[in-house]
Amino acid sequence: MSKLTAAITAVGSYVPDFVMTNKILETLVDTNDEWITTRTGIKERRILKGKGLGTSYLAIKAAEQLLEKRKLDPKEIDLIIVATATPDMMVAATAAYVGSEIGATNAFAYDLQAACSSFLYGMSTAASYIESGRYKKVLLIGADKMSSIIDYTDRTTCIIFGDGAGAALFEPNNEGLGLQDEYLRSDGVGRNFLKMDAGGSLLPASEETVKNRQHFIYQDGKSVFKFAVTNMADSAAKIMERNNLSHKDVDWLIPHQANKRIIDATSNRMGLDDSKVMMNIQRYGNTTSATLPLLLSDYESQLKKGDNLVFAAFGGGFTWGSIYLKWAYNS
Ligand code: UT7
Repeated sequence: MSKLTAAITAVGSYVPDFVMTNKILETLVDTNDEWITTRTGIKERRILKGKGLGTSYLAIKAAEQLLEKRKLDPKEIDLIIVATATPDMMVAATAAYVGSEIGATNAFAYDLQAACSSFLYGMSTAASYIESGRYKKVLLIGADKMSSIIDYTDRTTCIIFGDGAGAALFEPNNEGLGLQDEYLRSDGVGRNFLKMDAGGSLLPASEETVKNRQHFIYQDGKSVFKFAVTNMADSAAKIMERNNLSHKDVDWLIPHQANKRIIDATSNRMGLDDSKVMMNIQRYGNTTSATLPLLLSDYESQLKKGDNLVFAAFGGGFTWGSIYLKWAYNS
């Protein structure tokens, strides 16, 4: 009997309507379109406007699109994982609310947080449940409302991030398609380079933390950049080597969308032509947990059954890694 593998069998996505262009950012902070474009590759990002709308709003929209496209009864879903760095609340799993709202009444649900690597790690988790034979349908959603933790007076971070969500359904496959291999790592040395200081157990919210703007993201961009370039490229190269994949065998690189220069360094290291590199950073910026599934959704029509996909991501913590997956369907 062939080994049970975990394949992605459907995807969905959602980005909010409001487009925050580089021009708009020029009116908020001392920056300019040329700097942002050449240093990051970003031209615009989406922002979720409206009172009372959190990350769950984005996640629900992405999940609903997937269910509609696949004509899937939500009652068939066994497990929902919401990969996010910006849950609706610190306590009360966002995934549980998302599950109820989409009608997944037979599912259990929880959140998974590994900063910008949340979705990548979530792929490993979702696949393991399927490979074990324990569950048949796992819905993994990557969603972040980054605008809720961005300081729009800080030009070093506000130009980078945006809001969005993407969803992927994992199901058993007996043709050997789906997740093939993974190389995942983390290193706490990164904790001080990319973080939100307050609001957690280490430094609970207080008048002082609000005054000190400690509920916003802080990033030492240069240091994170160095680690990201090295580790994303190394892990993707390692996955290729371990699976005897040459640049000719790789059909697509699906890289975390943090900075076009990091993406270019990774694809160069892999020897890949630009035509094989998924990219939408110019339109969405860095949507943290949503970058990978947003790419899958945007490029779905170009993907063919059997295509070799290499995912790579790097995020706060530090967290990073690479996954090799064989695409399982033609859309
Ligand atoms: O997704 C999670 C992981 N995150 C990442 O992978 C992000 C990694 N880091 C980066 O992508 C880049 O470091 C940034 C895009 C954040 C910054 O780019 P950089 O090329 O590393 O710029 P820098 O921080 O070295 O700053 C260069 C100059 C500085 O001016 P001086 O000191 O040379 O006069 C900054 O003050 O650019 C200045 N600067 C800006 N200028 C215009 C910083 N931000 C801006 C800005 N507009 N928004």
